[in-house]
Amino acid sequence: MTHPTADAGFGVYLHWPFCASKCPYCDFNSHVRHAQVDEPRFIAAFEREIAHNAALTGPREVTSIFFGGGTPSLMRPATVGAILDAVAKHWSVAPGAEISLEANPTSVEAERFRGYRDAGVNRVSLGVQALNDRDLRRLGRMHTAAEALAAVRIAADTFERYSYDLIYARPHQTPAEWAAELEEAIGYAVEHLSLYQLTIEPGTWFERLFTAGKLTVPDSETGRALYDVTQEVCARRGLPAYEISNHARPGAECRHNLVYWRYGEYAGIGPGAHGRLVTDKGRVATATIRGPEEWLSAVERDGHGVESRETLSEEAQGDEFLLMGLRLVEGIDPARFAALAGRPLDAGRLDALIADGLITRDAAGRLRVSEAGFPVLDALVADLAA
Ligand SMILES: C[S@@+](CC[C@H](N)C(=O)[O-])C[C@H]1O[C@@H](n2cnc3c(N)ncnc32)[C@H](O)[C@@H]1O
Ligand code: SF4
Repeated sequence: MTHPTADAGFGVYLHWPFCASKCPYCDFNSHVRHAQVDEPRFIAAFEREIAHNAALTGPREVTSIFFGGGTPSLMRPATVGAILDAVAKHWSVAPGAEISLEANPTSVEAERFRGYRDAGVNRVSLGVQALNDRDLRRLGRMHTAAEALAAVRIAADTFERYSYDLIYARPHQTPAEWAAELEEAIGYAVEHLSLYQLTIEPGTWFERLFTAGKLTVPDSETGRALYDVTQEVCARRGLPAYEISNHARPGAECRHNLVYWRYGEYAGIGPGAHGRLVTDKGRVATATIRGPEEWLSAVERDGHGVESRETLSEEAQGDEFLLMGLRLVEGIDPARFAALAGRPLDAGRLDALIADGLITRDAAGRLRVSEAGFPVLDALVADLAA
């Protein structure tokens, strides 16, 4: 029997590719533009690409919408409203659909929160990153801790739901310092936290510093201790992990991100967005042009900015399903893997991982990565997918 979560919903991801400045650790598709962004032109292009995707999927009920970036909180609320109207015009939006927007916690942006709410946004995800000014400076952020906390308070007063991101395993960070910061973070009555371990991404300024020996990050033993502290503090304070980097009070999980991890269907709109659409040809992976101006010109010329569109093989679908699903604490249904991949999981490999205590199997046959398995998740997925 297929697990009920197999029907993971239909999400719409909208990428806003601009930021006020580029953070030294970040390799997201984000660009700094000194000239004013022509928002009406982007609205028209978003609408055309939404229409293009809707023609591919046919009628669908949208269960979640997510404005990600870049920095969507640089958009005017009217722009967010116009794009939401376009989504509702081309698909139907489920009553109570989760509509999230990523926001940077500066005072300028917090002033727009009410406008976003009036436009239909019901959840914000704030990029707080750290709760002390020394680390915020080191991370190249434009806000102070006090400013971020003021934005969190405004978010709490404005939206039904909010979350914020913190980055840990920062240069010189100790597990004791991190535990105290996390306790403070949870104290701000948050229902959801995304806690990312700092990674040195290729092509970033941090990579250059790191390679030149000018940036020291915690070694793997300290990294592991920081991860363990994260799990312990969050679980004790009622925000257990539901995904490797995401913690929530039960019921407050981000429904949009669950669409990805449960390998549901989603449209990716805007520069550098990825989608997975279930069409009459099968599951199709789409990716759009990353450069904002290049994407805009392509949409104006062709009606979409899609630069690659690939119908996924059974094998590729099985791999993606494992890669996404095993990140979730709820784990995966092996029957769904078999249905997607056209073959069952390799029983010998699975038994070995279970014997090593890295994966557990419950009475219904559901597979979950164990506490010991999460820190080595990538290797584990590669082993099982091989
Ligand atoms: C696309 S960013 C968008 C949020 C928003 N622009 C901001 O920075 O506040 C999403 C999150 O990814 C995380 N992130 C980005 N680069 C990272 C890295 N190299 N290591 C760990 N986390 C990272 C940050 O926590 C960030 O808030
Ligand atoms: S972390 Fe956020 S604000 Fe910084 S460059 Fe990346 S997307 Fe932009």
